[in-house]
Amino acid sequence: MLDKLIIEFDKGVRTLFAPAASARPHPDAGMPEAEMSEQEKRHALGLMRVNHCGEVCAQALYQGQALTARNEGAREALKHAAFEEVEHLAWTECRIRELGGHPSVFNPLWYTGSLAIGVAAGLLGDKWNLGFLEETEYQVEAHLNGHLKDLPEQDEKSRAIVKQMRDDEVRHAEMAHEHGAAKLPLPVRGLMKLTSKVMTSASYRL
Ligand SMILES: [Fe+2]
Ligand SMILES: [Fe+2]
Repeated sequence: MLDKLIIEFDKGVRTLFAPAASARPHPDAGMPEAEMSEQEKRHALGLMRVNHCGEVCAQALYQGQALTARNEGAREALKHAAFEEVEHLAWTECRIRELGGHPSVFNPLWYTGSLAIGVAAGLLGDKWNLGFLEETEYQVEAHLNGHLKDLPEQDEKSRAIVKQMRDDEVRHAEMAHEHGAAKLPLPVRGLMKLTSKVMTSASYRL
C-alpha cells in the first residue's frame, strides 16, 4: 500500500507541475490559428482552462479509484481510460499556452479534493466506484457539448480538441457501464453538478 501511495503521489506532482505527453497526435495538429478578437481569444482561453482543470480532476479521480478498485477488470479499464485522460491533459494544456494563458491556479486544490472523492468512491465498492465514473463522464460529455456551442465559431483548433475529448469521455462512460456501474442516487448526481459549477466558474477566470 505504501508503494502504491508513493507512486500515486509522484503521479499527482507530475499532473500538477510537469507537462503531460500524448501518444495520439493532438487533434488540432497542423491546423492554422484562427483570427480572433481579444475578447474571443480570452473566452476560448477561459473555456480551455476549465477543460484543463476538468482533466486534472479526472487524473485525481482515476488515481483514487484505481488505488481502491478491487476487481482486476475494473482496474484495467480504469487504467486505459486514465491514459487517455493524460492525453486530454496534454492537449488542453498546449492549447492554453497557444492562447497566451496559464492553467488554473486552483488546480492543486481541485486535484486534492478529487483524489479524496475518488478514494471514497473506491472504498464504497466497485459498482459505486464505476457508477461515479460513469456519471462523471456523462456530466463531462454534456459540459463539452456546451463548450462546442460556446467556443468562438472560427476557433477550429479548440473545437477539434473538445470534440475528440467528448468522444473519448463517451467511451469511458460506456466502459464503466459495461463493467457493472450502478446508477447514482439523484441527490448525489445533483451535488456533483453543483460542485462542477463552482470549479468551472473559478477556473474560467483564474
Ligand atoms: Fe478527459
Ligand atoms: Fe474520461
